[in-house]
This record gives sequence, C-alpha cells and structure tokens, in this order.
Amino acid sequence: MSSVALNERYNDKVVRQFAVMTLVWGIVGMLVGVLIAAQLYWPALNFDLPWLSYGRLRPLHTNAVIFAFGGCALFATSFYCVQRTSHVRLISDGLAAFVFWGWQAVIVLAAITLPLGITQGKEYAELEWPIDLLITAVWVAYAVVFFGTIAKRRVSHIYVANWFYGAFIITVAVLHIVNNLALPVSLAKSYGVYTGAVDAMVQWWYGHNAVGFFLTAGFLGMMYYFVPKQVGRPIYSYRLSIVHFWALIAIYMWAGPHHLQYTALPDWAQSLGMVFSLVLLAPSWGGAINGIMTLAGVWHKLRTDPIIKFLIVSLSFYMMSTFEGPMMSIKTVNSLSHYTDWTIGHVHSGALGWVAMISIGAMYMLYPRVLGLKAMYSEKLIDTHFWVHTIGVVFYIAAMWVAGINQGLMWRATEADGTLTYSFIESVVATYPYYLFRFLGGVLVVGGMLIMAWNTYKTFRMARDEVDETPVLEPAHA
Ligand code: HEM
Ligand code: HEM
Repeated sequence: MSSVALNERYNDKVVRQFAVMTLVWGIVGMLVGVLIAAQLYWPALNFDLPWLSYGRLRPLHTNAVIFAFGGCALFATSFYCVQRTSHVRLISDGLAAFVFWGWQAVIVLAAITLPLGITQGKEYAELEWPIDLLITAVWVAYAVVFFGTIAKRRVSHIYVANWFYGAFIITVAVLHIVNNLALPVSLAKSYGVYTGAVDAMVQWWYGHNAVGFFLTAGFLGMMYYFVPKQVGRPIYSYRLSIVHFWALIAIYMWAGPHHLQYTALPDWAQSLGMVFSLVLLAPSWGGAINGIMTLAGVWHKLRTDPIIKFLIVSLSFYMMSTFEGPMMSIKTVNSLSHYTDWTIGHVHSGALGWVAMISIGAMYMLYPRVLGLKAMYSEKLIDTHFWVHTIGVVFYIAAMWVAGINQGLMWRATEADGTLTYSFIESVVATYPYYLFRFLGGVLVVGGMLIMAWNTYKTFRMARDEVDETPVLEPAHA
C-alpha cells in the first residue's frame, strides 16, 4: 500500500488499527447506551432475559464507551503524537501490536463477562481479577512503548501533549492497581481488600481520577496536539500550558470525596473534596481557554472547517462540565443533585460533548493522514455529523438537567406538617417524558456515528483505489 510506504518512518499501522476500532467501539458502546435509554422508557425491552437486563447492560455501556471507544482514541492519538513530536518511530512494533491485540482482548472479555453478571461491583472497575491482570500487562507494555519512544527522541524538548499523555498513563496504572486489590476465590469471583468507608473512599479516589486522568488528562493531550495542528498555529500560550498541567494534576487527586457528600466519610474529608473541586475550575478553564484562543486571528476557520467545529465545540462542552462539576460539589447543591438525572446530564455533557467530540475531530484528522491522503472522502458529511451530534447532545443533556432538578425538588418538597408532598413513583412519572427526549438525543448521536462510518469507509476505499491505479510495469515483450 502506498500509504504504508509513505509512513514507513513511523509505525502508523498500530495508529490505523486503534483509529478504526475507535469508530467500531464508539458505535457499539453508544448503541448499548441507546438501548438502556430505551429500556428506561420501555422497560419491556429487556425481554425478561437476565443478560439484557438494565443492571448488566449499564456497566457494559460505561466500559464500552470509556475504555473501548475512549481508550482506543487515546492509544491511536498518543502513538501518533509521540512519534511526530519526538521525531522517532515507536521503539517496538511487537510491543505496540501486543498493546493493540491485548486491549481488544480485554474489551471482548468485558463484553462477554458483564452481560453474564460477572462483576466486582465497583463502578468503572467492574471487571474481575483475571481481566484486571491482562489490563495491567497491556498497560505496562503501553508505558514501555510510550516512555521508551520519548527516551529515544531526536529533539530535546518534550512537547506538552506528551506530558498530559504521560500523566494519564502513570496515573491510570496507579489507580487501577490500588482500587483492584482483591482476594480471588475463583476464576470469576474475588473480594476487594478494603471495607466500609475506606472502600468507598478508595473507590471514589479511583472513580474521580478515572474522570480526571482517563476522561480528561489524556484528552487534553489530544487537544494540545490536534487543535494547533488543524488550526495551523502554535498553541496560544506555552507558558499557560505548563501551569495548566501542574495545577490540574496537583488538584484533581484530592477532589474524589465530592462523590461521597453526606455519607459515612468523615465530614472534613467531604469538605476537602468540595474545596479542591472548586479550585479545579481554574486550571480546567485555563486549559480550555488556551485551546480556544489558539484560533485567535483565524476565527473564520470556525465557520468553514467542520473538524475545527468539532474540536472547539468540544472545548466549550469541557468548560460547561467543568463549571457545572465544581458547582455540584458544593454540599448544599449536591444535596439536590445527588441521585438525580442532573448527574447523568453532567456526565454526558463531559462524555458526549467533550470526550466524544474531541475524539471524533481527532479521528477525522487521523484517517486521511495514516492513509497517505490529503482529506476525508467528504467534508460535507463531517459537517452534517457535527450538527446531528451537537443537536443530539443538547437534547440529551437538556432533558437530563430538567428531569434531574425536577426530581431533586420533588423529593425534598414537604407539607406544613413535615410529610413528603410527593411519593417516589410520582417523581418517576414526572421524569418519564424526559427519558423519551434523551433516547431521541441518543438516536441522533448514533446516527452521526453511522455517517462517520460511511465517510470513513469511503475514505479507506479511496486510499485503496489510489493504490490500484498505480501503473503496473508491463514486461517489454509480451
Ligand atoms: C448515544 C450516546 C449515549 C447514550 C444514549 C447514553 C446513555 C446512557 C444511559 C441511559 C445511562 C444510564 C443513566 C442512568 O442510569 O440513569 C448512561 C450512563 C453513563 N454513560 Fe452514557 N450514553 C451515551 C454515550 C456515552 C459516552 C460517549 C460516554 C463516555 C465517553 C458515556 C458515559 C457514561 C457514563 C460514565 C455513565 C454512568 C454515569 C453515572 O453513573 O453517573 N455515555 N449513558
Ligand atoms: C472541574 C471538573 C469537575 C468537577 C469538580 C466535577 C464534579 C462532579 C460532581 C460533584 C459530581 C457528582 C457526584 C455525585 O453527586 O454523585 C460528578 C459526577 C460525575 N462527573 Fe464530574 N466533575 C468535573 C468534570 C467532569 C468531566 C469533564 C467529566 C467527563 C468527561 C466528568 C464526569 C463525571 C462522571 C462520569 C460522574 C458520575 C460518577 C458516578 O457517580 O458514577 N466530570 N462530577
């Protein structure tokens, strides 16, 4: 393939593989999201089958979108970025291939065990110990390839995107090992080593930093490489990016207790989580502004380039969710928002707005580049995808905000004599229409992903056809 010859200097095979699987797992994970959204509106859709029940499909959705879709996007972009910014090829093609196939094996094992009900019961760390060991092996290989490539670099400078990717790799390793320490009793069952409030604290130290480092730091690495590249200008402020990096990683670690407000966790720990969450607003917005201001002087590109639309609107959603998060961590606000669909709205403004949109933008940049082409098959289809996705996300999060605040207010409403104004089932009935809106938002988002799949398929065909058209050397005498 001509494109392979073009990119021989770098290992783009593994980038191509991860980039394609980003799309595949994105569609699968979001389809499961649409299915569980539909089940909340039409409960009969579990067909009375245990492996289609909501409780089993929900972790399948979260694992598929975070670790399969988000994970593959992070692997693809970090391998692409570290080679370009270090001016060297990945240190080992064999290890890179192990990272790819090992990660796909983890995803397939998750897709089998979760619907079977095999789980540790810890949110975002559901997978049982044999799969956890495989994840550890893959992650160590990933770290060796990534940091080994940086060590071998031909430029003295380590570009800031690699700092973020590096922090993501190291922190996720620590989080994964500490939160998954468990005593196995069989192949499919283990007991965690922590108990009571300590267990809760470790779980949400993990859970919050999974948000901070898996769903944020890694994607900020993506932002620092792909935004300036697509805009065609250097990042707005390199100094700000360094402050952003150190402030973000120093503060995120301490904010986990905001998931445990009004629980058995010591009160001072809850307040500490709240204070650190409020402070977190500053580096989050500093980083986002750094990305958005990279467009300074060339704002018109935001009108004309649909990939820039994806990248910049993703940063706007990032700013929205990192404003909302600190507000929700305030104890009095959390007493209203906790357990309601407001949290689900917050999650998806981060997940569908920030994480998915920056990944989709980066994939539209990557596909032609790793195929030796100049552009995707259709720019118009990227633009259509952008609008369908954005409208879908707005449907989703607006429905959840209204539903959530409604629920919170109904649950706390009391009569003059102190009795509750509404029964729980009345709040469920009030929420019902919003679940239909959320489902429709999800359908739009998946529709956008299918448009992307078609555009990507045609782009790969274009690359193949270009190869087919290369002249065949005929023998001089037939
Ligand atoms: C078509 C798109 C999507 C749809 C329809 C969808 C739907 C859903 C539904 C119905 C839930 C369960 C809510 C509940 O239990 O009340 C959920 C949870 C969740 N989803 Fe999605 N989702 C989508 C995309 C994504 C993406 C792309 C991500 C991440 C990158 C994501 C991350 C999550 C997380 C982390 C949760 C758990 C939230 C929590 O426990 O508070 N989702 N999703
Ligand atoms: C400054 C940044 C942020 C802060 C301070 C923050 C704060 C919070 C708070 C207070 C909650 C509600 C906890 C509860 O009542 O149970 C929450 C939930 C959540 N947030 Fe954020 N958030 C931030 C950014 C983000 C971003 C960017 C994402 C996604 C990319 C995200 C994903 C989530 C998820 C998945 C949950 C639900 C966890 C669960 O209960 O399963 N957050 N966040």
